[in-house]
Amino acid sequence: MRDDLASLEGSNVLIIGGIGFIGSNLAMRLVGLGASVLLVDSMNPLYGGNLRNIAPIKDRVRVNIADVRDKHSLSYLVRDQQYIFNLAGQTSHMDSMADPVTDLEINCTAQLSLLEVCRAYNPDAKLVFASTRQIYGRPQYLPVDEKHPIRPVDVNGINKTAGEFYHILYNDVYGIRATVLRLTNTYGPRMRIKDARQTFLGIWIKSLLQGAPIDVWGGTQLRDFNYVDDVVDALLIAALDRASDGKVYNVGSDEILSLEEVARLLTDFIPGAHYSVREYPPERRKIDIGDYYSDFTLFRTSTGWTPKTSFREGVEKTVKFFQDNMDYYA
Ligand SMILES: NC(=O)c1ccc[n+]([C@@H]2O[C@H](COP(=O)([O-])OP(=O)(O)OC[C@H]3O[C@@H](n4cnc5c(N)ncnc54)[C@H](O)[C@@H]3O)[C@@H](O)[C@H]2O)c1
Repeated sequence: MRDDLASLEGSNVLIIGGIGFIGSNLAMRLVGLGASVLLVDSMNPLYGGNLRNIAPIKDRVRVNIADVRDKHSLSYLVRDQQYIFNLAGQTSHMDSMADPVTDLEINCTAQLSLLEVCRAYNPDAKLVFASTRQIYGRPQYLPVDEKHPIRPVDVNGINKTAGEFYHILYNDVYGIRATVLRLTNTYGPRMRIKDARQTFLGIWIKSLLQGAPIDVWGGTQLRDFNYVDDVVDALLIAALDRASDGKVYNVGSDEILSLEEVARLLTDFIPGAHYSVREYPPERRKIDIGDYYSDFTLFRTSTGWTPKTSFREGVEKTVKFFQDNMDYYA
């Protein structure tokens, strides 16, 4: 992996959604590796784009504020890029139900038009698409592997499913190399914490750091979590590993935690923090998936990737980051 990463020095890399949580952490790693990085992001305030995310590298990346739905801009931006990380997305499950057409435009239609633009202007690029565990819906068995039926419980899951299938189709039919990673709950510095649009963990961290208690709905639901640096490793491996072209992989963790355990761990790191367990709100229950954790054996055995950061260690780093940067994120 270390030798492969060295090959990124001087390479042209485009990150769409690059000012968001995962995109900006990826950008920092790529800048450190000597890549020439272009970040494209719409900066819609409902999503995770935040210029503070790229403050440490702002003089070492190029930034273009553009919308992935604008194929005319994209047709210039994709040119000469060797790697394209496709991380732009509407990520809120609740918003996808309230405004399904916007979710369709960003997570589905725009994905197809990005691939068309690549076919026309840069068929040699390698794409990595960030999909989500949400597409499986309520697990029929655990841990969930890639053979699990796809049965989304919300509009976001349907559109992300289409987005990933388009990538694999273009890989198979047109030879536009693409790998899909189905990410599980990802957390870490630079996540959106001002509301629950990205993950419940964000709003929990903000509330606890501001001295407010949090409500844990249910509390017994099981989840796996990945620290963002581990997800960045997974994205880079997917980009560099030719054997992963045309493949769909789960990314996850062996550490399975109940939501109450997560709340307890968070409150351990934040002096005076408290949580209460409450009944699950009825409007959320309809799109809740119950317990979920991933079987990521395929990705682990195919590429050697495995998460390196324990939840305790990751939470400690995340809380420290937001203690130091609260003004820019709350
Ligand atoms: N964070 C997680 O737990 C998680 C889990 C599963 C999948 N994912 C996927 O990973 C990707 C990155 O997620 P994230 O957590 O970094 O979220 P994020 O909201 O921080 O990042 C997404 C970025 O895309 C940008 N964006 C949204 N719509 C756009 C558009 N139309 N044009 C251009 N840019 C646009 C946003 O401004 C934002 O900066 C998403 O596709 C998401 O579905 C994330």
